[in-house]
Amino acid sequence: MTALEIRDLVKTYPVRNAFGRVSGEVRAVDGVSFTIPAGGVYGLAGESGSGKSTIARMIMGLTAPDSGDILIDGVSILGQRERALVQMVFQNPGASLNPRRTVGQSILVPLAAHGFAGDRRGRIGDLLDMVHLPRNFADRYPHELSGGQKQRVAIARALAVSPRLLVLDEPTSALDVSVQARVIDLLEELGRQLGLTYLFISHDLSLMRNFAQTVGILYLGKIVETGPVAQVFQDPQHDYTRLLLASVPVISAEEAAMRPVIPLINGEMPTAEELMALRAGLNAKEPAR
Ligand SMILES: Nc1ncnc2c1ncn2[C@@H]1O[C@H](COP(=O)(O)OP(=O)(O)O)[C@@H](O)[C@H]1O
Ligand SMILES: [Mg+2]
Repeated sequence: MTALEIRDLVKTYPVRNAFGRVSGEVRAVDGVSFTIPAGGVYGLAGESGSGKSTIARMIMGLTAPDSGDILIDGVSILGQRERALVQMVFQNPGASLNPRRTVGQSILVPLAAHGFAGDRRGRIGDLLDMVHLPRNFADRYPHELSGGQKQRVAIARALAVSPRLLVLDEPTSALDVSVQARVIDLLEELGRQLGLTYLFISHDLSLMRNFAQTVGILYLGKIVETGPVAQVFQDPQHDYTRLLLASVPVISAEEAAMRPVIPLINGEMPTAEELMALRAGLNAKEPAR
């Protein structure tokens, strides 16, 4: 059973010159398709600017695609205003929680918006239990919480309306490394308990390797490589994937030996054109390592 299906999604943004005139367009998302089976974790990886957040925003209904379709359980959600089935956890828990609201008030917002009729206080307590925070955290303010605790609150808030799919846009990149792993553990546990489907967006391939089952590598708005995580990481087919993998910290000597050699150009990631030129054996610029 497919929980989420993305079909040939396209989104362009106008590019303006110094005078504010439209001088061209950037294809932020350029024909992206993928599916996530129910209960699966699909990882979307790519450098900053590759189009990851634009895809997330389109799934959440915050940005309209130019073309393409987004289906949940086989039904297009593009025209729907009500999207309780999909919730999102953002990168920066500090910014996504209102500093003037208590934790309980923040979690209440989606409950009230979706007309939750039961015992709200009890539901908030249950949600805090689920993310392993004390129930009395409902009365605390964000500034009283650590980064990891704030992100747990953001996860509780996302779960408030019982979504089927969670879009996680760099959910741990604002957190300390030691805290990141515990948040990922929590997400795995909740995924199993609640049968959640995840779209996990990250530029951190070591986290991706631990959490996702299938990975799509996004480059300049296109998925250039996709497959089971182990396969893509062991035997990357695309130069850009090798480049991303080359920046992953290596843990063992075996991994170090497997690490591919990437032609950086003046210490920087080559553009698509430069990569093509390199592949064709034409040295566009002098490769420097
Ligand atoms: N609202 C916008 N207006 C214009 N350009 C945008 C807007 N949002 C994103 N872009 C551009 O779209 C591309 C993809 O951005 P984004 O989806 O944020 O990438 P990522 O999340 O992978 O860093 C970038 O070139 C970015 O500058
Ligand atoms: Mg982003």
